Amino acid sequence: MNSQTDVRILAIETSCDETAAAVVVNGRDVHSNIISSQIDLHTLYGGVVPEIASRKHIEKINQVITEALKEAEMTLDDIDVIGVTYGPGLVGALLVGVAEAKAISYAKKIPLVGVHHIEGHISANYIENKELEPPFLCLIVSGGHTHLVHVLDYGQYEILGRTMDDAAGEAFDKVARAIGLGYPGGPKIEKVSREGNPDAISFPRAHVGGEGYNFSFSGMKSAVLNYLNGCQMKGIEIVQADVAASFQQAVIDVLTENVKKALKETEVKKFAIAGGVASNGTLREATEKVCKDCGVAFYRPSPVLCTDNAAMIGAAAYYDYLAGVRSGLDLNAVPNLKLGER
Ligand code: KG4
Ligand code: ZN
Repeated sequence: MNSQTDVRILAIETSCDETAAAVVVNGRDVHSNIISSQIDLHTLYGGVVPEIASRKHIEKINQVITEALKEAEMTLDDIDVIGVTYGPGLVGALLVGVAEAKAISYAKKIPLVGVHHIEGHISANYIENKELEPPFLCLIVSGGHTHLVHVLDYGQYEILGRTMDDAAGEAFDKVARAIGLGYPGGPKIEKVSREGNPDAISFPRAHVGGEGYNFSFSGMKSAVLNYLNGCQMKGIEIVQADVAASFQQAVIDVLTENVKKALKETEVKKFAIAGGVASNGTLREATEKVCKDCGVAFYRPSPVLCTDNAAMIGAAAYYDYLAGVRSGLDLNAVPNLKLGER
């Protein structure tokens, strides 16, 4: 039974290729988390086709919301707040969720809160770690983003580092395509890597110079492509599992090196990972070890809360709502929305 002070949020996420809705109470209590993935559809094309993603969201959105409410044993009359991702992401895909959220907000007179997708990924950590509170450091590694962030307070972020070129997930997807694994690259590289030797090929670990904790992955991706071309020209057999494992290890080394440096220099005692790539078991183990060595508490969401979902949007919406954030019916999709911007 919900007490009168509970905040029951219906959250909606449609920024890329997952149509998702969830009911989250008080930011941390997930009553339902429904995800309709379009992965099979986009696999045919080797990556996400924006136009197809938007159309599929339109087809699925009502069904996913109905299911989320049903599983939570609620109706729209029980909902106190609508939370929706309004950026960053694919503009046509974002617009489906935003339009739906605005329609419900208007028809049922429910307050609307526009949520930043990356803030959602970070907030996924609150769901299973009820004791986790800011400040903490968070590494967000997804298909579109690679950010090392100091979460100063709820909704307050200092970006310590970011990728200078490709996102980590993007590099996984491009390398997977090059070695014939197809889309989505991350989970496929992780699976194949289990049979491979991570020390078989020495791919370069880019060190971005200067202050801060920036990342670079495009050189590593090019090195893999050069290696593959070289093998083909010399008639050397390509061992897919070794290429996958060596590439995965190179990405993990670059990520963990910056994490280690940031933990030592900031002396923050809590660290969390987030985003689709954070579901990678080898990365989880490696970052956990870095935290252990530095005497820092380690947090990570379950894999289903790492990849895109609406429960994380509900968690973020709750803290935005408490901070007084309210979006109007003029809320629009912002494909390049920066973290911390409104
Ligand atoms: O967070 P997410 O679901 O969507 C974005 O916001 O981008 O992340 C998707 C990305 C894709 O690039 C996918 O290949 C990668 O996360 N990914 C993984 C794994 N699972 C998903 N990368 C490495 N290992 C995995 N197990
Ligand atoms: Zn995401």
